[in-house]
Amino acid sequence: MNPRGRFPPGYGNRGGNGPQNPNPNPNPNFYGRNPNQYAPRGNPMQSQQQSQQYQQQWARRSQMGGGDPGTSDVAKTLQSETVGPSSPDWKAQLKIPPRDTRYKTEDVTATKGNEFEDYFLKRELLMGIYEKGFEQPSPIQEESIPIALTGSDILARAKNGTGKTAAFCIPALEKIDQDNNVIQVVILVPTRELALQTSQVCKELGKHLKVQVMVSTGGTSLKDDIMRLYQPVHLLVGTPGRILDLAKKGVCVLKDCSMLIMDEADKLLSPEFQPTIEQLIHFLPANRQILLFSATFPVTVKDFKDRYLPKPYVINLMDELTLKGITQYYAFVEERQKVHCLNTLFSKLQINQSIIFCNSVNRVELLARKITELGFSCFYIHAKMLQDHRNRVFHDFRNGACRNLVCTDLFTRGIDIQAVNVVINFDFPKNAETYLHRVGRSGRFGHLGLAVNLITYEDRFNLYRIEQELGTEIKQIPPQIDQAIYCR
Ligand SMILES: Nc1ncnc2c1ncn2[C@@H]1O[C@H](COP(=O)(O)OP(=O)(O)OP(=O)(O)O)[C@@H](O)[C@H]1O
Ligand SMILES: [Mg+2]
Repeated sequence: MNPRGRFPPGYGNRGGNGPQNPNPNPNPNFYGRNPNQYAPRGNPMQSQQQSQQYQQQWARRSQMGGGDPGTSDVAKTLQSETVGPSSPDWKAQLKIPPRDTRYKTEDVTATKGNEFEDYFLKRELLMGIYEKGFEQPSPIQEESIPIALTGSDILARAKNGTGKTAAFCIPALEKIDQDNNVIQVVILVPTRELALQTSQVCKELGKHLKVQVMVSTGGTSLKDDIMRLYQPVHLLVGTPGRILDLAKKGVCVLKDCSMLIMDEADKLLSPEFQPTIEQLIHFLPANRQILLFSATFPVTVKDFKDRYLPKPYVINLMDELTLKGITQYYAFVEERQKVHCLNTLFSKLQINQSIIFCNSVNRVELLARKITELGFSCFYIHAKMLQDHRNRVFHDFRNGACRNLVCTDLFTRGIDIQAVNVVINFDFPKNAETYLHRVGRSGRFGHLGLAVNLITYEDRFNLYRIEQELGTEIKQIPPQIDQAIYCR
């Protein structure tokens, strides 16, 4: 067996050794999937009432996305088959999830006050939007949805977790002609996990439409993708290499694709991807619309922009770069003290779910083993694992099966797990973009979060430079951290 492809420590130990749980060696450190696992660790200072409120909030997040809609007043579960999208009562039949009452910052609340209904979207699409729990468009959605609907090219920059995905998926879904069985929209993203997540968002938002969404990435069977492409596909989400492969083979026909969306566009235009992207663009018609989205746009993007989107509509919602809801700390440590320091953080912090970044595949595996030995639950993920295993770790971590995830920069961009309230840079990143995207894995949709950076002597200049480049303050970690700054 490929040692890099094995399951992370503690993986699959969900009690019992039945057919679905072949691991004969249950790990006592594994928390198991249990609604109470998100309960705050015992803190005598916290009142019972606060604690209950907190549990309800986080428990709600794990119900989202297909679970029981709950018993909240807002949850309307009228399921009359006789009321269709054309009925005046269409809103009454929606299965709206309970409202998220957690504190949200201005990063998402400072809107113009638009409503999704202002954009004259298809009713079936509106139904999907509301059933996803979106009540009003976020600032980036207010800016980009109406412009994208006009057919203009867009270069959009908005902070992490502020809803860029729906900002491009909603106009894409609106524009697709469901009766024309050709690929009309391609969404490119840099990682397979992000492709899966984005295609899932498209499917959820388009739940009441008849839009056929396909996801296509490396690491899966090419033959299966070819077979799938014989069936109707309207919207294709994927990673550039696989889509180019299919286009070159003539199975993925892009001549009618009028919209190309590049999420994490600066990453897709880095030397690693740019040649693939440029080849791919030549399979699209000349009058295609291109939308570029990211939280970071270094100057490297300029050359591509000048050639392919000469007059884009530019949206820049980043008057500052870091999220208002995230508090950033550093702890000055020696390399050999890092694990001990992490252990202290685990025991002191109120971690709902955490993502812990290392700078190499090897260090991810070593650290995951250490964390498990310390008695904490932990999964790990990196790009050298088999895709099936990556998918299972991603899926199970998202569903709350484990509290901590150790990873490489594979999970730095776009990954949206609302329950993550703590990000730890076990290894400090080398550049400001990577730092920004990493810490943006917590504090999703304007919520609160904490970023803790372990800084060695060698990292000290990087810390200073990144602070300067982002115009942000990373403070020294205090002995006690008030829960109110990352748990509300
Ligand atoms: N209008 C809305 N109302 C409520 N929640 C929303 C709305 N739009 C998006 N969200 C939620 O906000 C979260 C973050 O959205 P998304 O992943 O699109 O952010 P992003 O801007 O792409 O972030 P990143 O830069 O990290 O990729 C998601 O869980 C999404 O469901
Ligand atoms: Mg995103």
